[in-house]
Amino acid sequence: MEIEISSCKHLMYVSEIQQEMYDSAQRRGTGIAKRSIEYLTQKISDGNAVVATENGEWVGFCYIETWSHGQFVANSGLIVSPNFRNKGVATLIKNKVFQLSRNKYPDAKIFGLTTGLAVMKINSDLGYKPVIYSELTQDEEFWNGCKNCVNYEILIKKERKNCLCTAMLFVPQNNKVNEAVNQSENEFNHKISQEEHKYTIQNSPETNNNKKETDEKESHLSV
Ligand SMILES: CC(C)(COP(=O)(O)OP(=O)(O)OC[C@H]1O[C@@H](n2cnc3c(N)ncnc32)[C@H](O)[C@@H]1OP(=O)(O)O)[C@@H](O)C(=O)NCCC(=O)NCCS
Repeated sequence: MEIEISSCKHLMYVSEIQQEMYDSAQRRGTGIAKRSIEYLTQKISDGNAVVATENGEWVGFCYIETWSHGQFVANSGLIVSPNFRNKGVATLIKNKVFQLSRNKYPDAKIFGLTTGLAVMKINSDLGYKPVIYSELTQDEEFWNGCKNCVNYEILIKKERKNCLCTAMLFVPQNNKVNEAVNQSENEFNHKISQEEHKYTIQNSPETNNNKKETDEKESHLSV
């Protein structure tokens, strides 16, 4: 599997990515800020996204947004193709997009709004902490993105203090120790290759057969 900073060669996947974002939101019955083809195309062309592929097939995606004149960064639109879920792909993509964000905007606070446990877990491992909404960007444009969400009325009723999403924030100044891992390019690459190794092991036919036999509860790790 390849996990790369986006470039024009990934534009062929835009429609599939947009469709999967929409379909997944429908299936979950949750809200989602709508992303147009044009918007995703721009993110990919500008190298402000991370794309995972395997043998030419699209596997996963996430992109960077900046708010409050670059004081805040969000890693948004995380999506993994259904056939590749529960194999550690989102963890790899988030690690890569987090590192890209730290390199491009070293002083920015990085935040996310999510209802998903998987994303909460990944964010926690990266050093994000849960916060109230007033700690996030107050950029109107960001909050306007919630207008397409089915829960927008709740957000407004709560005067934008909270809603169904959990807010999580990474503050660079508070993470000097955790960042030892992420600040070093070499260590980061080592971590990525370890994760990729884990991914390969998890998805080898041999491992999958053993897992099926030994523990059905862990079948989410199987192909
Ligand atoms: C959410 C999503 C990105 C997770 O991708 P993934 O590649 O399956 O995630 P990973 O395999 O890297 O799992 C990361 C962690 O979350 C856990 N996890 C994965 N899916 C989960 C789920 N549906 N519920 C609870 N935990 C989950 C994993 O067990 C793992 O935890 P661990 O590190 O303690 O083992 C994927 O399911 C998806 O694309 N969903 C639809 C879109 C979406 O919800 N995006 C997030 C919007 S905020």
